[in-house]
Amino acid sequence: MAKRIGVLTAGGDAPGLNAAIRGLGKAAVGHHGMELIGFVGGVRGLAEDRWIPLDHSSLSGILTAGGTILGTGRDKVHKMIVDGEPRDVIPTIAEVVERNKLDCVVMLGGGGTAKNALRLHNAGIPVVHLPKTIDKDIAHTDNTFGFSTALEIATDAVDRLHSTAHSHHRVIIAEIMGHKAGWLALGAGISGGADVILLPEIPYRLDSIVETIERRKGRGTNFSVIAIAEGARDVDATLELKAAESLIKSASSSQAKTLAKENYARIEDRHRENTFHLAREVEAATGLESRVTILGYVQRGGTPCAADRLLGSVIGSAAAELIKAGQTGIMVASKGDGAARVPLADVAGNLAQVPIHHPWIRTARDVGTGLGD
Ligand code: F6P
Repeated sequence: MAKRIGVLTAGGDAPGLNAAIRGLGKAAVGHHGMELIGFVGGVRGLAEDRWIPLDHSSLSGILTAGGTILGTGRDKVHKMIVDGEPRDVIPTIAEVVERNKLDCVVMLGGGGTAKNALRLHNAGIPVVHLPKTIDKDIAHTDNTFGFSTALEIATDAVDRLHSTAHSHHRVIIAEIMGHKAGWLALGAGISGGADVILLPEIPYRLDSIVETIERRKGRGTNFSVIAIAEGARDVDATLELKAAESLIKSASSSQAKTLAKENYARIEDRHRENTFHLAREVEAATGLESRVTILGYVQRGGTPCAADRLLGSVIGSAAAELIKAGQTGIMVASKGDGAARVPLADVAGNLAQVPIHHPWIRTARDVGTGLGD
């Protein structure tokens, strides 16, 4: 009997999701003779058994489209909000999978989705995870679809900020997405020629940033562009967050853990205006007018670039092949020009930050970019 697969997209959207759905679908339906349905609205659509059939016609014309034709959401399978209360919907999902006679549910998403996928796998539900995120922060994969497009957009923004910063003799700080990883800010900062790049992986000091700007001023260059990752913090804030994080890890009861998590969220909330705070500090210290540009969701929107279409197609079609061979409980990772399988247990909860000795960091230093340390 033909295998039946369900697919869903979860977490923040990212360019290349439709290319991956198409890659999976065309290979599964057209090449391997399987049937495919798409759950709408992420994990919630799966729990509520809301789906559409995916066939040749619905898979056509989506390669170049941004967003996701299936819609997405950030629900967690072990505590999805139902009637205002968190509910464990894993048993419900098991019933949906059984009812639809699915051999596998393919979950396209980032770190949160990998954790959801592992929870389902541990409950005996056959799942496969495909790594999507503009943050490139998933372990054991060379790349994630979405990153390359966001890199193009953020680089273009850093490029464009140069001429206006130059014209007004200003410091312009571009805040770039990436959650707790600095890949996007580092990549765009190097490619766009930022003078200072600030990353979550390297806690910064104001005096170091000021030193870079003053050095440029000394050469007669009265403007600077700073690329800051949204998760970058100064040394003191980093220490405060690390201490709060270790309280969560060492909590001895679930009540203590909840309190420690609430405390962490309060501290994060206090740091929400971090980039604006930094701009005020830089202005006071250098005498140069300082402005902030938050790139925000433009980094996730619109047409995927060729690299993300290619990656989505490679990973999607490889997933179909692996499912045909009976593989589940895995992430289909990007490896070199192709794909490789990685056990979900190795991926979930494993954040891939920029290693401190990564070649991109060395490159930034070599070309004279300040890293705030
Ligand atoms: O994970 C992708 C991402 O865009 C991060 O870079 C960012 O921190 C986050 O999602 C924003 O989340 P939301 O879409 O829920 O506002």
